[in-house]
Amino acid sequence: MKNFEFANPTKILFGKDQIQKLSTEIPNDAKVLMLYGGGSIKRNGIYEKVTEALKDHEVLEFGGIPANPEYDILMQALKIIKEENISFMLAVGGGSVIDGVKFLSSAALFEGDEPWDILTKKIRTFEGLPFGTVLTLPATGSEMNSGSVITRAETKEKLTMGGPGLFPVFSVLDPTVVTSIPERQIANGLADAYTHVLEQYMTYPAGALLQDRLAESILQTLIEVAPRIMKDPTDYEAASNFMWSCTMALNGLIQKGVPTDWAIHMMGHELTALFGIDHARTLAIIAESHYTYNFESKKEKLAQYAERVWAVTEGTLEEKAKAGIAKTTAFYQSLGIKTKLSEYTDQYTGTAAEVARRFEERGMTRLGEHGTLAPTDAEKIVEMAY
Ligand code: NZQ
Ligand code: ZN
Repeated sequence: MKNFEFANPTKILFGKDQIQKLSTEIPNDAKVLMLYGGGSIKRNGIYEKVTEALKDHEVLEFGGIPANPEYDILMQALKIIKEENISFMLAVGGGSVIDGVKFLSSAALFEGDEPWDILTKKIRTFEGLPFGTVLTLPATGSEMNSGSVITRAETKEKLTMGGPGLFPVFSVLDPTVVTSIPERQIANGLADAYTHVLEQYMTYPAGALLQDRLAESILQTLIEVAPRIMKDPTDYEAASNFMWSCTMALNGLIQKGVPTDWAIHMMGHELTALFGIDHARTLAIIAESHYTYNFESKKEKLAQYAERVWAVTEGTLEEKAKAGIAKTTAFYQSLGIKTKLSEYTDQYTGTAAEVARRFEERGMTRLGEHGTLAPTDAEKIVEMAY
């Protein structure tokens, strides 16, 4: 096991009716900006619950943060934060709203002229404007981590940022929010969380027995609840296990002391930037090609995964590892997610070369757990995913 440090300051308020506690979790004298997305919270009752809990606070609102949070729109919110001297933000939404609020948390205290620099110059955030979240869509884990992904439509870019100053102060996780989520988004949440675990697990054996088993147990729980929650989002037991699995998949715990990959996400983000494909679906497009291309360096973990998660007992190590890849693709497909780029767009010619060009330009030349994947390797992987 590798050396590590672990600190996660986010307080979790999990379960039914926890939204009420916003009244005491947010300081009484705070000037609050509540931020949300395209309006789902106004149709499913979450908006009323939040405003009721905050009725004794001074609250301003900013709605309209789109899926894949857009820089230009966030800059409008930043103006309000500065003009109104906002002291606390509340994100009510999925990963996009929470990520947007993380960007604002950083940008509000940023001293440079152009907040886009935080993303392009990879400026880490050590102190941000404090914020809490009410999660409405289990998927990204953003509610308990310090990372964020921001999109700029103008330049077709989707870039990551983060730093220890960007953990939410608290996050409310009420599994009853799942009842109103459309099937497509539930499938996305399952696939995203599943792939988060894979990115931190499908590397090489590192003697981290507990981390491996924690990762495997999250995968098994997602596999178990997937058909239940897809069939019936009002199944509270399935919803609560789905929600907590998504949070646990990316709150930092399972990646401590082990090598991590994240190349699938890096390639996937480019497919969202270029074609607008849902984040989780881009991961399903890339995963099989990535594991096939890197088979030799990942086969031990692929075989362990096939054995322990999918109960594959027959065959050589290589055969089990291949079965692990096939099971992964089948899992995405069982959620109704297509796993080839050409199933999403017929404009895919040249995509692989464009991804490689962007990686080269940004100096992303050492991807993967060994740091050995060059842009030319990414090009081959994306091409295999056509
Ligand atoms: O905008 P509204 O109207 O609220 O609708 C949203 C949106 O259209 C809807 N929705 C959310 N909760 C709902 C609901 N509809 C009905 N009932 C509810 N309770 O779902 C749609 C998608 O929402 P979004 O927030 O975009 O989805 P998700 O949570 O999957 O977030 C995706 C974003 O997170 C980034 C992705 O790149 C993408 O930009 N990621 C963030 C990560 C992080 N910060 O750690 C890690 C991830 O790997 C990922 O990259
Ligand atoms: Zn993801």
